[in-house]
Amino acid sequence: MKTPRTIVVGITGGIAAYKAVNIVRAFVLNGDSVHVVATPAALRFVGKPTLEAISRNPVHTDLYEGVAEVRHVAIGQGAALIVVAPATANSIAKLAAGLADDLLGNTILASTAPLVIAPAMHTEMWNNPATVANVAVLRSRGITIVGPGVGRLTGTDSGAGRMEEPDTIVAVALAVLDRAMSAGEAAASAVPDLAGRRVLISAGGTREPLDPVRFLGNRSSGKQGVALAQAALARGALVTLVAANLEVAVPTSITTVLVGSALEMHEAMTRAAGTADVIIMAAAVADYRPRSVQVGKIKKEDVGDTLTLELVKNPDILAELSTASRPGQLIIGFAAETETDADRLLALGRDKITRKGCDYLVVNRVGQDAGFGTERNTVTVLDRHGVIVSEVSGSKMSVANCILDLIG
Ligand code: CTP
Repeated sequence: MKTPRTIVVGITGGIAAYKAVNIVRAFVLNGDSVHVVATPAALRFVGKPTLEAISRNPVHTDLYEGVAEVRHVAIGQGAALIVVAPATANSIAKLAAGLADDLLGNTILASTAPLVIAPAMHTEMWNNPATVANVAVLRSRGITIVGPGVGRLTGTDSGAGRMEEPDTIVAVALAVLDRAMSAGEAAASAVPDLAGRRVLISAGGTREPLDPVRFLGNRSSGKQGVALAQAALARGALVTLVAANLEVAVPTSITTVLVGSALEMHEAMTRAAGTADVIIMAAAVADYRPRSVQVGKIKKEDVGDTLTLELVKNPDILAELSTASRPGQLIIGFAAETETDADRLLALGRDKITRKGCDYLVVNRVGQDAGFGTERNTVTVLDRHGVIVSEVSGSKMSVANCILDLIG
């Protein structure tokens, strides 16, 4: 049985407070010990008995209760993680200023635990220069900011400011906690350096249909792409995974778009690229597809002894995204090569990054014994000038983290 970690959930006074109940419940079901610190305003939106029943612990609000046990600092000192959801514009301003005029403010100031906040407010408040500046201050302190999402708000309006979905907040928070715990005593300094960055990753191998039952495929398992998605999530990023025929499971917390063929991946990546800060093309995309897909199964009697397939070129997704990239958007490609000579492998990589026009290229040798499907990977990362910026050999998760270090 795992040892429960103490997670403090701070709830501030916004309508999204009712969704915080689901966040508390998810942490409890995950086996963690949850202590809710609600502001008085939060309790106007959601009842104390509800939060106490769901968290299985007393809910604290008042700075002047539990004085004998020095509660205003004890809760923060005992926390392994603090999550504030929803975080109103007012509470974000107070956090940025380091105010401690309520129990939640004291708890946060007295804690060295990683802090994850999920803003929720109307679009005008989110875009207000005061909030923008306050959020920038929080980011600069290494605080993970999840969301807000874009969508329907409380009234009839919609736009940016909607609290991120509870599942996503919980997934990001647990990833931040796991990363902090695995950093041991240095937990407090495990900075979620991709906090709030939107990272779009393609993974797996495309399948090009021949007829209703057959396809042309490749050996990519998707392990490296999924490791990248998990590592990015743990570093606070908002991750979208465009997944083609994966052989590995994806955590439900990662927004996943399932695709089959190169054309489907092309469409999904092009659509998602507009809002991405970082794009990583880890998928093995088929360069060619059958010119036509047979409606019925191809029959031997109709074909005879030799079957000739006519293939047409697929769009080069990486090259297209690189050409269309907007300022500040970072694009990373992979090069899957079977060349065994190290110098010639690098030369192929340098040639490929020139053709693709991306910012970095992760060169890896693939074959029966390496790359595809294996648990480990050995890669060399080139920048757009062909200069080696990183060389790493290890688990696909450690390779993923080295690649993400380039984004920082
Ligand atoms: N890629 C892509 N679209 C394609 C083919 C590849 O976006 N139609 C991307 C891959 O996801 C990878 C990079 O381009 O990030 C390089 O893929 P790779 O298979 O190594 O190279 P190719 O472009 O296919 O060139 P070649 O097969 O000739 O080596």
